[in-house]
Amino acid sequence: VNVPYDLEAAKKDGYDTFMLKEIYEQPHVIAETLRGRIVNQKIVLDELNDIDFHQFNKVYFVACGTAYHASLCGSQVLERATKLPVIATVASEFRYNDPLVDEQTLAIFVSQSGETADTLAALRLAKEKGATTIAIANVLGSTISRDANYVLYTCAGPEIAVASTKAYTTQLVLLILLAYYIAQELGKEIDHELIQQLNTIPQYVENILKDHSIFENYAKMLENLHDAYFIGRSLDYASVLEGALKLKEVSYVHADAYVAGELKHGPIALIEDGSVVIAVATQPHIAAKTISNIQETMARGARVILLTTHGEEVKNVENTYYLPDVVPTLQAILVAIPLQLIAYYTACIKGCDVDKPRNLAKSVTVE
Ligand code: AGP
Repeated sequence: VNVPYDLEAAKKDGYDTFMLKEIYEQPHVIAETLRGRIVNQKIVLDELNDIDFHQFNKVYFVACGTAYHASLCGSQVLERATKLPVIATVASEFRYNDPLVDEQTLAIFVSQSGETADTLAALRLAKEKGATTIAIANVLGSTISRDANYVLYTCAGPEIAVASTKAYTTQLVLLILLAYYIAQELGKEIDHELIQQLNTIPQYVENILKDHSIFENYAKMLENLHDAYFIGRSLDYASVLEGALKLKEVSYVHADAYVAGELKHGPIALIEDGSVVIAVATQPHIAAKTISNIQETMARGARVILLTTHGEEVKNVENTYYLPDVVPTLQAILVAIPLQLIAYYTACIKGCDVDKPRNLAKSVTVE
């Protein structure tokens, strides 16, 4: 019998969608992105060998969408590691706001496709103003990799689904490596426990993926909702921004992410009986504050999904998922997995086109 070879199916490696395949590729591609970049407890980024980081008094991160969320996380990690002032901003704002950029500025541009119009325009502007520019790209030979002074590649491999997953987590890994590489070059104290734990992340991601049915159950809470609220603080705010974007993109549920401390300044007016709040509390120094925000929403009838770490038990929360015990910075990588799967399963339950959501393109090459 002549069975036509289904190239599309073959490329999905047997998964129903590219998005699910790419979610499950994350242990492997995170390991690939780490490969050869930690040698004897030192970060090795030879691509940046001839940069003298002492020349910089400011760092900008510039990106769009998911890449911006990775940049927001990366900016906080870099600032803590180097004590340099670091600003993360979206490219469509940066390019039109005449930013304070000069020869003492390091500007880092993050882009999976390397072809995003706003990000490329922002890069050109930063170079015109004298900045040293580094691209964090996933596509070899993409425009951004040729336009920037330096380029570091994530090793996520081709990302086909419009909703970015493996590109995001490998961007986080590379931005954490970059932060500690620069700290190393500046002679700053290095968090050796973090560096050691990086190589355990692929296995932890693998373990979380095995809990996929838990997240499929969480998704059932969102099936008939029009709105979902994500809250977090510090690094968790970047994570909830990304979680809300994933849910919006693939399931068309209106999802907004708030800094948890901002709820009482307005957004809590939206919370009513049956509202679903997805809260992330993985940062020990601030988790207790997020937890009191969670309790404020529950007092107004919210149903809560809490992604947290052991030791942050919260009474009466309907669904709590405990992440593995790694240093707080690395939790940003791990918590992406439940957030991706909640969005994925919600979209599946609603019968949405997961790989090609309406109105969206994989790379926004026009303004
Ligand atoms: C991510 O899920 C979206 N598809 C979108 O926000 C994307 O991250 C953004 O357009 C930036 O794309 P880039 O990383 O290729 O520059």
